[in-house]
Amino acid sequence: MLNIFNRVRYSSVSKRCLDLVSPVLSRGYSNGSSNKKKTLDTIRSKYQAEKPISVITAYDYTSARLSDEAGFDVLLVGDSLGMLQLGYDATTKVTISEMLIHCKSVSRTAKHAFLIGDMPFGSYLTVEDAVQNACLFIKEGGMDAIKLEGGERIADKVSSIVDTGISVMGHIGLTPQTATTLSGYKVQGTTAKSALQLLQDAISLQNSGCFSIVLECIPEKIAMEITNTIDIPTIGIGAGRHTNGQVQTFHDTIGLYDLIKPKFAKPYTDTEKIISIALKSFRTEIQENIFPSEEHIFKIKEKNYQEFLNTKC
Ligand code: KIV
Repeated sequence: MLNIFNRVRYSSVSKRCLDLVSPVLSRGYSNGSSNKKKTLDTIRSKYQAEKPISVITAYDYTSARLSDEAGFDVLLVGDSLGMLQLGYDATTKVTISEMLIHCKSVSRTAKHAFLIGDMPFGSYLTVEDAVQNACLFIKEGGMDAIKLEGGERIADKVSSIVDTGISVMGHIGLTPQTATTLSGYKVQGTTAKSALQLLQDAISLQNSGCFSIVLECIPEKIAMEITNTIDIPTIGIGAGRHTNGQVQTFHDTIGLYDLIKPKFAKPYTDTEKIISIALKSFRTEIQENIFPSEEHIFKIKEKNYQEFLNTKC
C-alpha cells in the first residue's frame, strides 16, 4: 500500500519541499533513542515493532516541556486548545493565527517529540487553501506534520498537501469541527452503514497519503477492524484497546478542565484541585499578612539605608 513513508522518500522532492522539511532536518534525525528528535521513522519503527505510539496534546511552553520530558512520541497542537486554553465553547472558533501562536510556543520548547499541528475549521475548504495553510504550520509554526479532520470528502486536500512534501495525519469518527453535522459529541460508527463509511474513510485517507489516522469515539470492534485493514498506524481516543497508539488531551490527562469530563479520558491527577488549593492559600496568606515572610524579602545594607534616610528631604 502507498503511504507517506513511501511518498516522502520516493516522490520527486521540489525545492519548495526542501524548504518545508528543512526545519525538521535541522533538528536532526534519529531512530528511537529517547534523547533524540523523533521522526516519521520513529513512528514507523514503533508501528512495525507493534509498540504503542504515545501522543498527547500540547499548547504552550509548560505543556510542551512537561510532555516532551515525559517522553511522548508525538505532541499534537490540537485545536482543542480553543476550549481548553482560549475559553471558546467549540473548536470551530479557532483561527489559523491562534493555532500558529501555540504551534510556535510548542516548537520552541519541545526537543524530542514529533510535532503535529491541527488545521482549524475553515482553513482547508479548497485545495489551494489547504496547501497554503498547511505550509504555514511547517514554515511558521515549526511543526513536523499537520492533521486534518474528515475522510473521503477531504481526500483531494490530503493528497495535495502530501504532494507538497508535508506529512498528514487524518482524523475520523467524532470530528469536533463538524460535530453539529454529526448531531453533537456522540459515539460514531455504531450502525453497520456508518461503520462501513468509517472503514471506507480510513482506506481513502491512507490512499491519499496520510501517515497515520486518529480514530475518535468509535466502538472498539470497529477501531480494531480499521486498524487490521489499513497499513498505517491508527491512534485512538475513545476507540478502545486495539489501535496502534493512544492520544488524550493534556488537560484531561492531568485533570485540568472543569466543563467536560469525557468517558474515554483518565485523569492521572487532580490538577484543578491542586491549583485551587494553592491559589486559595496564597490569597489567604496575603489577607492574613503571612506572605511575604523573611525568606522572600530583599535587604539593603544598613549604611546605605541610613544614607538614604539622611538625604531624603
Ligand atoms: O484537537 C485535539 O486535541 C484533537 C485530539 C484530541 C485528537 O484533535
